Formats: sequence, C-alpha cells, structure tokens
Amino acid sequence: MCDFRFLRSKNLSMPAAHRPAPFHPDLAEVLLTEVQIKKRIKTLAREIKSVYGNREFTIVSLINGAVMFTADLMREIDNPVRLDCIRVSSYGLKTKSIGAPQVIHSLTLDIARRDVLVIDDILDTGKTLKLVCALVRKLKPASLRTCVLLDKKARREVALEADFVGFEIPDKFVVGYGLDFAERYRNLSGIGVLKPEKQNAGDWASE
Ligand code: IMP
Ligand code: MG
Repeated sequence: MCDFRFLRSKNLSMPAAHRPAPFHPDLAEVLLTEVQIKKRIKTLAREIKSVYGNREFTIVSLINGAVMFTADLMREIDNPVRLDCIRVSSYGLKTKSIGAPQVIHSLTLDIARRDVLVIDDILDTGKTLKLVCALVRKLKPASLRTCVLLDKKARREVALEADFVGFEIPDKFVVGYGLDFAERYRNLSGIGVLKPEKQNAGDWASE
C-alpha cells in the first residue's frame, strides 16, 4: 500500500481506512485520485498567481506527460497565458531513465524577454528539467520558473528543485493523468502504481 507519509504537505495524508480502492484493474495501488489532483491544482494555481499577479507569462509544457496537468492548471489561471510545448525523449519501454534525455521537438514561440513557466508531470532524477531549463535560458527569457505535479525527491541526481510542486511522492513508478508506462495508461483520471506483472514492457513491445 502507498505510504501516505510522503504526501506530507498540503494536508494530503490519508488514514489507511480511507485509502481509495484502485480505479483500474492494472493498478496495485492508488496514490492520488482525480478529486485530490483537481483540488491541489486549484491551490497550485493560486500559488502561481501570487507570483505573476495578473501579468502575462508563457507556459512551456513538456509533452506528452504534462498534457493533462497543463490543461487543467491553465484553466485555473485567468492571466493572458501563452502556451508552447517541447518534446523530450522519454523512458521508452523502461521504468528508469537511462542516459541523457534529448530534445526531440523544440519551441516555436519567441520567449526572449518573456516570463516563462516550464511545466512537467514529474521531477525524478532532474535530468529532463535541467536540460529544458538550460535550453530556455539560452533564449534569454525575462524570468524562468518551473512547476511539476509530482516530485520524487528520493531519486534526484542533479541539484534542481521546482518552484511549484503539486505532490511529493515515494520512489515508485506511477502512471495515469498523463504519466505512462510504454505509452500506456496516460488516460487514467488519477495516479497509481502499476501491478508488478504489468511492468513488463515485452507485453506492449510487439503491438
Ligand atoms: P527525470 O529526467 O529523471 O527527472 O525524468 C523526468 C521524466 O521521466 C518525466 O517527464 C516523465 O516523463 C518520466 N518519469 C519519471 N518518473 C516517472 C514515473 O514514475 N512514471 C512515468 N514517467 C516517469
Ligand atoms: Mg515526461
């Protein structure tokens, strides 16, 4: 079962008796339900708004993983927001990152002298966000901040913390709400841990 001590902040710990049952048969446990995510996104939007005020800013969303998070977060913010997306190489058929991530598709908007907020689904080793921040910085934005829905602090390999964090989670491979395993399960409305027997990429590789 999930150790909810890791959901330390924001009043998210949940007594064992109230932990939700898995909402998908392939999940061993649920970390975050759709309701919990939506609730946290509302407060996260207020935190972001308190920094930018009513000013315009540019969101750089890391696709595919941050698609759902970005869409829901943006709609809680009434600033004149610009949106661009960037695609970085993914884990492929693995549950651990290997080697250095690479930018596969870069930005199209001009972000020079703009306030930029980079959004990703999860901060794990930190290599992906570090790469994207370096790329953005080269384009001379007025400011650069980062926002992630999930933070797996235990796995960090580079010194990097996000400015805005939705939830801190334990070191478990999670899927749902944009996060995938071998490109599957992004469509789940909540976030959970796959059953070990479902973490076999070979099952998907031949399809
Ligand atoms: P990092 O470069 O190690 O920080 O990894 C960040 C990227 O790895 C995220 O954008 C995700 O796409 C992916 N990732 C890391 N942990 C998970 C996970 O538990 N489930 C699904 N994807 C993950
Ligand atoms: Mg990703």
